[in-house]
Amino acid sequence: MNFIGDDLSKYLVDHTTQPSAILNEIAAYTGANCDLPQMLTGPVEGQFLKTLVQITSTQRILEIGLFTGYSALAMAEGLPEDGQLDTCELEQKHIDIASKFFAKSPHGKKITIHQGPALKTLTEKLDGRVYDLIFLDADKENYPAYFEQTFSKLRSGGLLVVDNVLWSGAVLSPKTGADKGIVKFNKLLQNDNRFENVMLSIRDGISLAIKK
Ligand SMILES: C[S@@+](CC[C@H](N)C(=O)[O-])C[C@H]1O[C@@H](n2cnc3c(N)ncnc32)[C@H](O)[C@@H]1O
Repeated sequence: MNFIGDDLSKYLVDHTTQPSAILNEIAAYTGANCDLPQMLTGPVEGQFLKTLVQITSTQRILEIGLFTGYSALAMAEGLPEDGQLDTCELEQKHIDIASKFFAKSPHGKKITIHQGPALKTLTEKLDGRVYDLIFLDADKENYPAYFEQTFSKLRSGGLLVVDNVLWSGAVLSPKTGADKGIVKFNKLLQNDNRFENVMLSIRDGISLAIKK
């Protein structure tokens, strides 16, 4: 997931606004206690997400894929006091960890966690809600379905942000279901004239798409 080498990666971190103490705690706890800690977005992508929230004056965010809460809290820190973030997560163990950290942050009150398979949550619990920014970062096989299910939930002019669109380079020769899910999603987005989009090589690849 590190396309530019350790030295330049560290240089990026060293020249980015440093994360809050609680974000650092989440990263340290996740590294020491959780499987697949590399799923956590980390300091540069976290600050990138927070910056996107701030420059778009976003008030309402939908996140799909909470894990231990790093990206959700980074984005919540960029929201105004009355901003709101809904996040979907399958695993109760991840929710338990994230909730403990959110309770310690003044921005935690902006975050509502929805437990269960995100596709079910989207249709059953979040029906009718509309967001300024949607961040996709859950199971990659379902990226095409998330794209379809979230379209009506993103306001016109809103921003879709999608993580792992390069999938460590596997998009060039897809083999697994996850590889194929991302490739299919990338094609769907590229061919959808309802969006204007750009694919960036930040970390594992991030696509930004504005809904026209
Ligand atoms: C890459 S991690 C999210 C990382 C997080 N955004 C961060 O920056 O720390 C993906 C998360 O999606 C969750 N997930 C996987 N399949 C899911 C599903 N069908 N519905 C909801 N969450 C799911 C996983 O349990 C995992 O916590």
